[in-house]
Amino acid sequence: MSKVLLVDDELSMRMTISEFLRRDGIDCDVAENAHTALELFVNNEYDLLITDVVMPKMSGIDLMEKVREINQECKIIILTGEPTVDTAVRAVQSQANDYMAKPVMKDDLLKIVRRNLQIKQLNDERKQLFLDNERYSRHLEDMVTQRTHALQKSMSSTITLLSQVVEYRDPYTAGHQRRVGNCSARIAEWMGLGKDITESVRIMGYIHDIGKIVVPSEILSKPGKLTLPEFLLLQSHSQAGFEMLCDANLPPIIAEAIYQHHERIDGSGYPRKLKGDQISLQAHILMVADVVEAMTSHRPYRPSLGLDVALAEIEDHAGILYDIEVSKACLGLFREEKYTFDDRQYEIVMPL
Ligand SMILES: [Fe+2]
Repeated sequence: MSKVLLVDDELSMRMTISEFLRRDGIDCDVAENAHTALELFVNNEYDLLITDVVMPKMSGIDLMEKVREINQECKIIILTGEPTVDTAVRAVQSQANDYMAKPVMKDDLLKIVRRNLQIKQLNDERKQLFLDNERYSRHLEDMVTQRTHALQKSMSSTITLLSQVVEYRDPYTAGHQRRVGNCSARIAEWMGLGKDITESVRIMGYIHDIGKIVVPSEILSKPGKLTLPEFLLLQSHSQAGFEMLCDANLPPIIAEAIYQHHERIDGSGYPRKLKGDQISLQAHILMVADVVEAMTSHRPYRPSLGLDVALAEIEDHAGILYDIEVSKACLGLFREEKYTFDDRQYEIVMPL
């Protein structure tokens, strides 16, 4: 029910108007002066203030100004027997919503009161809708944040698990994967690529040889030259990794780049002999980091070839086997920044 505060120093006006309003189903409090009205106003929620203008001590206009300091929403109707331009100007300045001259006629009064209460109610409903909407949006945002967090966590666990699987089986490959992942991230940074690509190539590096778990360990650790069937089996790790990762609920680019990390831009790589732009940027970065790391590492069948030889391989084949920009970044990283391989496992930040 709407609530009205009526302020008038004339008892007869208070009694008449409040009676009109109550009979019309409107809850109405009365005050004989502005001070009492202000007290009531502070302690109650009113939808409408009807105030006389000329009252002893504090005028209706002063009361209205004080009310507006407390409440901007309440509707205000001023009543006066002596309308003057000054009164009207101050009433407008204090944001009165309506103005009635005495003597007050019942029908006119009810019409104005109902109209103002209706507007107030509409404003209240609109405000409530806005608040509900805001609350709903906040709830939705919280839900999306929570789900995104959960998804990130689940993907990060998958990556950690996959990289541990390789580590348990072949500690050499695990160290190699972390070094390639961290180096790939630094190459991406050197190229000025954003955080998403930088972190995604780190992740790809950490698991890029996951497919080697289908290759018998005798082949992985064979000290001598591989036979052709052994070599073909070793090469199958790109596709095996891709197939495993396709089912792992990770961003598809991760599986795809791992599928491509042994391709070369002239089409001489494997398994699909992709060329140039058919190979993703992430795979271009991964392959360069992989080649440099592999050539500088000891292998069961050969000692390390050294960083200079590895960098010469990239320099000599930039634009032939390896992407030119990625090669430049790699050479800059090692030669200018004196980068050294880093086999720490950094926190996984999964780009979504
Ligand atoms: Fe590989």
